[in-house]
Amino acid sequence: MVGTILVTGATGTVGSEVLKQLSNDASSYNIKAGVHSIENANKVQQYDRVKVVQLDYDNMEGVESAFKDVDKLFLLTHPSSKTVEHESNLVTEAKKSGIKHIVKQSIMRADLGADVEAMRLHRQAEKLIIESAIPYTFLRPNEFMQGFINFQGTTIKSNNAFYVPAEDAKVSFVDARDIAAIAVKALVEGDKHYNKTYMVTGPEALSYHQAADKLSDATGRKIDYVNISEEETRDALKETGMDDWLINTILGLYTLYRNDHASEVSSAVEEVTGRKATTFVEFATDHADAFR
Ligand SMILES: NC(=O)c1ccc[n+]([C@@H]2O[C@H](COP(=O)([O-])OP(=O)(O)OC[C@H]3O[C@@H](n4cnc5c(N)ncnc54)[C@H](OP(=O)(O)O)[C@@H]3O)[C@@H](O)[C@H]2O)c1
Repeated sequence: MVGTILVTGATGTVGSEVLKQLSNDASSYNIKAGVHSIENANKVQQYDRVKVVQLDYDNMEGVESAFKDVDKLFLLTHPSSKTVEHESNLVTEAKKSGIKHIVKQSIMRADLGADVEAMRLHRQAEKLIIESAIPYTFLRPNEFMQGFINFQGTTIKSNNAFYVPAEDAKVSFVDARDIAAIAVKALVEGDKHYNKTYMVTGPEALSYHQAADKLSDATGRKIDYVNISEEETRDALKETGMDDWLINTILGLYTLYRNDHASEVSSAVEEVTGRKATTFVEFATDHADAFR
């Protein structure tokens, strides 16, 4: 008998791909899509076997019915200083409702001693899952290639340039579709992925200059990477209305990148999915229209 998988963060970058790939998977699991803003529900209703449930991590009313009859959980929370509180509530509910496997979206180099708070919080949340004794799979991805659309896309479209404080850092950017592919394999195949942690990266480490060149090739026009200072980055992010916690997280991550903490390449995508990780050229070609 097939069971039910609850995908949280289902309208976001990774969650929407998990949903799409799960609904196309031959395993035929029933799927619940955890949606925060109900006006986004139409984004997930297009897929087969998907039932929408509303989830607000800041208000756990209704979580019991969202978790009812769920066998496996894809656990993804948005970047927040409240990550541990949010994930603790979800894990407590998972335990109560008898969930048998949690696949958690974490972050590369999650560690209690990490310099960036978001990485420490992810490790604390991982530990709560381990303590719950529910079998787990932790996905620890590097920076998403989709960040070039979600965060740099606006200025790429308006100025043919993007502005980050990365200097000559090299980063093994990963395509969110590959993270989702690992999540789906783990959710569907189950026990061979129990209690495993996968560092998920792209197939190569690239500088932002190299990324700009590849975006230029894919779009057929010159796109420049402009290195800016931390202060300029802070001011630009503040103007978008971003809160200080997230701005500090982003600046902290760029410091790690400049210190070469994000260039390691892992083989997880190929090991788990049996196919090679998506290259930056493939990502840029597939999404060329998003930069026009
Ligand atoms: N971005 C990266 O490069 C990167 C790299 C490594 C790890 N990560 C980790 O990946 C996770 C983020 O993944 P993502 O980029 O796919 O997320 P995302 O695109 O920002 O999507 C976040 C999802 O969470 C939902 N959400 C927001 N606030 C919520 C709330 N209060 N209650 C319930 N749901 C809520 C959003 O729904 P609404 O849109 O309706 O609010 C959306 O579906 C974070 O844990 C981050 O640390 C990110």
